[in-house]
Amino acid sequence: MASIVFPIESMGNNTKDICSETIWDARIKKVWAHWKKVGEPKLIVAPMVDSSELPFRLLCRKYGAEAAYTPMLDSCIFAENEKYRSQEFTTCKEDRPLFVQFSANDPDTLLEAARMVEPYCDYVDINLGCPTPIAKQENYGSFLMDNLPLVKSLVENLALNLTVPVSCKIRVFPDLRDTLKYAKMLEEAGCALLAVHGRTRDEKDMKNIRANWNAIRAVKNALRIPVLANGNIRHMDDVIQCLEETGADGVLSAETLLENPALFAGFKTIEWASGEDGNQDDRLYQADLVIEYLKLCEKYPVPWRIIRDHVDKMLGEWFRVHPHIRDDFNAQSVLSFEYLYGMVNRLRDVGVVRPVYVKNI
Ligand SMILES: Cc1cc2nc3c(=O)[nH]c(=O)nc-3n(C[C@H](O)[C@H](O)[C@H](O)COP(=O)(O)O)c2cc1C
Repeated sequence: MASIVFPIESMGNNTKDICSETIWDARIKKVWAHWKKVGEPKLIVAPMVDSSELPFRLLCRKYGAEAAYTPMLDSCIFAENEKYRSQEFTTCKEDRPLFVQFSANDPDTLLEAARMVEPYCDYVDINLGCPTPIAKQENYGSFLMDNLPLVKSLVENLALNLTVPVSCKIRVFPDLRDTLKYAKMLEEAGCALLAVHGRTRDEKDMKNIRANWNAIRAVKNALRIPVLANGNIRHMDDVIQCLEETGADGVLSAETLLENPALFAGFKTIEWASGEDGNQDDRLYQADLVIEYLKLCEKYPVPWRIIRDHVDKMLGEWFRVHPHIRDDFNAQSVLSFEYLYGMVNRLRDVGVVRPVYVKNI
């Protein structure tokens, strides 16, 4: 993408500007052609460690998600360790468009890892937003905001050497001017799509701190590549409002999807639905969705800890009504599909009349 060579040094300044502009325009055209080729997805499953794995991505896709990110993969371990690769990265032909996300702080190691996944994905993504203590300790994610030359070299190395485009997912700086400089640097380095989580590195309390959609809009206005908005997407009304307010090309949702994987099909959890429950056709039973998820896990195996977390989040509302069933679930040191199908049936038997997911009312 950024590898077009032009003998511009030998030309006058004016010609040099015109040449760079032509190269730049050609690059941007290519970026948008790719975005169109993958279907211009607007409704996207955000990357989630231990949570946006293949069965969950497939479930969300069935219920309206138009693209998905893998969980963050450690590029260093991925490049070296076959067992890690086969356990942590699984996909299938229905699992497209797909962003494969890596954490990284070494351009060559990242490239080595990225080359292994490029045949199976539509973007290789760099995690520039993780704010956790381990990211600080190991110097990746949002802590690379303190070393922008390194970020630049991570992006450039992939953009020059991969056949699939490079995307980045960032958090914002407290000062908008820094965010805009950062975003422009990424675009110039060869980033072909930017997802912006509208919170700063220190804003970790995602339930109580609203994402800054104004900052996302400013980034969208300043860049020529596709920009995705992330933060505060809890139902389809938020999607519509966010796209309108930010002008972004799509949205990512994370935490809400864990509770309600049918968000992008227009379903709301009871918390957001107002008035009476909708028609029978507008209801989706939580138990049915859990069963669908478990069947996908039988087909595409994932570690039990991941299944346990998803079941816990999806059945949260029911568990609150029937805590003894949750206690029994939590007491299982080893899970099995037989136990989980049986538990869902037990919940059905004790009965909760209200459906958990309701279409817009
Ligand atoms: C369980 C969980 C795991 C996450 N893992 C990642 C990750 O691997 N990579 C990443 O860039 N962000 C990760 N995030 C952050 C989300 O992608 C997203 O940026 C953040 O949750 C804000 O979106 P939301 O308001 O829709 O939850 C994770 C979030 C959650 C809740």
